[in-house]
Amino acid sequence: MTPSDVKATLSFSDGSPSMELPIYKGTIGPDVIDIRKLYGQTGKFTYDPGFLSTASCNSTITYIDGDKGELLYRGYPIEQLAVQCDYLDTCYLLLYGDLPNADKRKGFHKLVTNHTMVNEQMQFFLRGFRRDAHPMAVMTGLVGALSAFYHDSTDINNPQHRDIAAIRLIAKMPTLVAMAYKYSAGQPYMYPKNDLSYAGNFMRMMFATPCEDYHVNPVIERALDRIFILHADHEQNASTSTVRLCGSSGTNPFAAIAAGVACLWGPAHGGANEAALNMLEEIQRNGGVEKIGEFIKQVKDKNSGVKLMGFGHRVYKNYDPRAKLMRETCHEVLTSLGLHNDPLFKLAMALEKIALEDDYFVSRKLYPNVDFYSGIVQRAIGIPVSLFTAIFALARTVGWIAQLNEMIGDPEYKIGRPRQLYAGSVSRDIKPLADR
Ligand code: ACO
Repeated sequence: MTPSDVKATLSFSDGSPSMELPIYKGTIGPDVIDIRKLYGQTGKFTYDPGFLSTASCNSTITYIDGDKGELLYRGYPIEQLAVQCDYLDTCYLLLYGDLPNADKRKGFHKLVTNHTMVNEQMQFFLRGFRRDAHPMAVMTGLVGALSAFYHDSTDINNPQHRDIAAIRLIAKMPTLVAMAYKYSAGQPYMYPKNDLSYAGNFMRMMFATPCEDYHVNPVIERALDRIFILHADHEQNASTSTVRLCGSSGTNPFAAIAAGVACLWGPAHGGANEAALNMLEEIQRNGGVEKIGEFIKQVKDKNSGVKLMGFGHRVYKNYDPRAKLMRETCHEVLTSLGLHNDPLFKLAMALEKIALEDDYFVSRKLYPNVDFYSGIVQRAIGIPVSLFTAIFALARTVGWIAQLNEMIGDPEYKIGRPRQLYAGSVSRDIKPLADR
């Protein structure tokens, strides 16, 4: 952290002594005021529910400029990564800080490919779930259970354990998601196939059966790979902060990532792609494009509790750069599959147009986020809606593990322990049962 020449002074209107607070500069982005000594010197905490103004860590992995609509992984713009790199290059970049050269790339691809199988016992563990269980419930369980299967990589304080846990998680997530899907469909599991790409292998494990050969459609393979790249990391969002907080207790990496999966499930976060698709389907059922006006009216009515899912973002107050790329992919996939006249896609386009022109959305800087389009793409590919968030979890695993390993390697790292403004009852005595 680079100290700034500027210092902040905190003064109090009751005459208590003022306090000088150091300021640090990042490479880009807002400076931060260091309040670590605040409690020790003043006996006061800061209050920031939802972390609207709080940097919880310093990180070198991902940078977002929400006003510009910019997203960088290790300094590289997402627009370049999405076009010039594949997902495993992106994983290497996020984990190790730079893109691999040709040799390292080959080695990394081979390493990940060699870890795609899961312990055979996992399928018996999976059998304990109901077949109609939500895939995210299953994934939370499966990812947490990895710590029971891979005892030799659970020591978060051992750098080799952290490295191999990262590779195992990245390699096994597609296998686990596909197993969760096959289990729900009552079909046999397909083992990974090492001569396919990361995305191609996932498609085969999802859609092939042992009865016939499976050919990977390159347009869909590229689209899935792009979905993975766009979702690979996103700075200190809710699930990443959950992983960091969970991992800060020294728990094993699989347990920390399972916590991230659980957090991602929520509809305000990773569950938004599923919620966006369900919303489009409901509008379609209730009259389609002609009923958009009525729907938007409901969204604007604060008492209705209806939100335009796939719109708005805590950080982006401009077009989400990932949404632009996903929109492009959406067109490619629908055209390649002959679905460009798909009514749901047309509805999404109409909804987007109206929302982008409506003052409610314009004045609040609410733009489509990546989930608005990724749901349509995944549906076109044949992925069931309930699996969308699991695919997001698959892609985000590398971001979670890179952030977790960064935290553990940081000499300033401490167990995460926020404080509170207590507003409950002061100390009181328990009354006998008859007097309560
Ligand atoms: N539809 C309608 N109104 C909205 C929406 C929306 N999708 N999003 C925000 N608003 C309104 C709020 O009601 C609020 O209005 P007000 O100022 O009149 O009270 C204003 O816009 C600001 O919104 P906040 O909720 O304060 O913004 P916040 O940063 O807390 O929330 C969030 C961001 C949770 C993403 C929100 O926009 C939302 O719920 N969107 C829909 C769900 C979604 O798509 N989530 C995906 C996020 S991206 C991801 O996880 C990959």
